Amino acid sequence: LASIDVDVSQVAEGQSITAKWRGKPIFIRQRTAQEIEEAKAVDLSELKDPLARNANIPGDAPASDENRAAEGKEAWLVMVGVCTHLGCIPLGQAGPYDGYFCPCHGSAYDTAGRIRSGPASENMAIPPFAFSDDTTITIG
Ligand code: FES
Repeated sequence: LASIDVDVSQVAEGQSITAKWRGKPIFIRQRTAQEIEEAKAVDLSELKDPLARNANIPGDAPASDENRAAEGKEAWLVMVGVCTHLGCIPLGQAGPYDGYFCPCHGSAYDTAGRIRSGPASENMAIPPFAFSDDTTITIG
């Protein structure tokens, strides 16, 4: 199947689920207001990877929080849950940037899934997706 529908009606603020798409884990998180604030507060010049890595927008778009979050639904972060170093699956709500932490070699990502420290060089990828209704995300 090229695309999947994921029901997110049970994912409350501050909660996450992991879907599977094309054999890869897809992290889906409804972020808290604090997590969004933290992500927005980051000076983009501090980022290791300046690109949004979001399949839904142009490839040269900057890695602002707006360009990482779901369009029009800034609380929602939908990402391929694969570390961009060597492909381990990072832990959620972990690490020094309150986002994701890869236990393999210590890459730390922020609350927008952007790489902030450690050996990985790219932000975690945002797959093609859209909300097909208020509580359903279609991935792919
Ligand atoms: Fe994640 Fe190496 S695979 S830090």
